[in-house]
Amino acid sequence: MPGRIAVVGSNMVDLISYVTRMPDRGETIEAPDFRMGCGGKGANQAVAAAKLGAAVMMVTKVGDDIFADNTIANFRRFGIDTKHVEKVPGTSSGVAPIFVEPSGENSILIIKGANAHLLPADIDRAAEDLKTCDLILMQLEVPLETVYHTIDFARAHGIETILNPAPAAPLDPAQVSKVTFLTPNQTELALISGMPVGDEGQAIAAARSLIASGIRTVIVTLGSKGALLVTAEAVSHVPPVKVTPKDTTGAGDAFIGSFARFYVESRDVAAALKLAALYAADSITKPGTQTSYATADEFEALRRATVA
Ligand code: RIB
Ligand code: NA
Repeated sequence: MPGRIAVVGSNMVDLISYVTRMPDRGETIEAPDFRMGCGGKGANQAVAAAKLGAAVMMVTKVGDDIFADNTIANFRRFGIDTKHVEKVPGTSSGVAPIFVEPSGENSILIIKGANAHLLPADIDRAAEDLKTCDLILMQLEVPLETVYHTIDFARAHGIETILNPAPAAPLDPAQVSKVTFLTPNQTELALISGMPVGDEGQAIAAARSLIASGIRTVIVTLGSKGALLVTAEAVSHVPPVKVTPKDTTGAGDAFIGSFARFYVESRDVAAALKLAALYAADSITKPGTQTSYATADEFEALRRATVA
């Protein structure tokens, strides 16, 4: 049985407008299509792992509005343990108005709502259940003090961690140095390392500086250029999987959530990354965030077709 994964992070309601172009200030224009879906970086990563068959527990907060029950039901639909999903009275759920342009690229606004109420005390309350997990996944859509507290908790109990430092924010280097895997994109890497990340050579140098501070593995995501796997021993390139993009929203989360799932199963980082690259690329070809993530069966068929 592959390991159990906990996600300590956000959930949002994605309000996705498919636009022909972004409106200018003061302008009203019409957009051809709209979709509402469950999103949020934490929830997306949890759903990707769960759709692939992992045992997943979610630690998050929802508001007391019309979105909350739908979000909880969505977690349960994928078999995600919701014992530590709590409602915050008098607060809205997290929402994310998203604009997707014809190129498939997106612009996202997040209103954290209840996610801002996930506090260190909530981690302590979930401690007994978190201790049964083999890997804890975090992002930056909940308070930083909670992320740091979770990192310390995981360390104290010998649990491996993945920190996806998104959306980009300056971080305490001493706290970041304690994670097992850090998965920045180039912007996030520049912000965290304080080094320029203009090209691949610079990205490797910046990632190496983080390795020197104590992180075991840095995975730099390069969008359509794939990813870099940097450890103290070696640097390798995870090649991109070429697809025609339809909606790139949540592709990063598909990558991290599926990586977590493949990693706890095989403990082979390079192999897990290769599968995660295929999983994320597939999600880009379909609209929406979680709705575009393949199930274990769909992914197995895709993998066979790709190998053949
Ligand atoms: O990473 C994509 C996610 O970012 C969206 O689902 C949106 O909710 C924001 O959190
Ligand atoms: Na998608």
